[in-house]
Amino acid sequence: MRKHIVAGNWKMNNDLSQTAALISDLKEQEKTSDAEVMIAPSFTNLWHTFESTREDDIEVVAQNMHFAENGAYTGEVSARMLKSIGIRTVILGHSERRAYYNETDESLAKKVDTALANEMRVIFCFGEELADRKAGNEESVVEGQIKNALFHLPADAFTNIVLAYEPVWAIGTGETASPGQAQDMHAFIRKTLENKYGHQVADDMTILYGGSVKPGNAKEIFGKPDVDGGLIGGAALNADDFYAIVNAF
Ligand code: PGA
Repeated sequence: MRKHIVAGNWKMNNDLSQTAALISDLKEQEKTSDAEVMIAPSFTNLWHTFESTREDDIEVVAQNMHFAENGAYTGEVSARMLKSIGIRTVILGHSERRAYYNETDESLAKKVDTALANEMRVIFCFGEELADRKAGNEESVVEGQIKNALFHLPADAFTNIVLAYEPVWAIGTGETASPGQAQDMHAFIRKTLENKYGHQVADDMTILYGGSVKPGNAKEIFGKPDVDGGLIGGAALNADDFYAIVNAF
């Protein structure tokens, strides 16, 4: 089922006391939209955040996980560890992880498999770089990222996948894709899914847009028919801004 989702990716921000302060600010907010709200704090703050939002209409999700079930992977976190503290959703393939930690379509395909095998939901991120867009290759880049990491899956796996289109040139730059650019790419993504899996899978897919979404532009972006929500970075660190975006639906 297609849903509205607004997910806040806190990235490597907020120590424990800052996390507690932001959570208490979030609890003061009123949700007036039908969007599912998610927040993704760092690993060290997941348990605290999960425990302190148990009663709230907020899902706590992880920013990453390893593809192995367990083993000699110093510094890594497994699906089982996440699940054991109540985490049911993981962000995979964020462009910062692709760029700085060498995550590839191949390693991401393995992570997706492991997450799904552990009955976790995946927010799968992808998006072209500025050079790709300037060269007019944005659709082929995006199509490749989706096919390489996801098209080995059976159709029913897609009920546990949310897609997040995040053009790299719009992340943290203040530069946003225009609502028209976002809509065009989301429609293309849905068409790509439809060609492989048929109309129903494509129509049911929740596709988020990410990249400098702010209170001032969220309404227009979310107003596009193929944009089902947002993955929010900078603006998710402020409770008022984040809920202005949540309530933009
Ligand atoms: P931004 O980040 O909203 O700060 O551009 C988005 C993201 O990286 O998910």
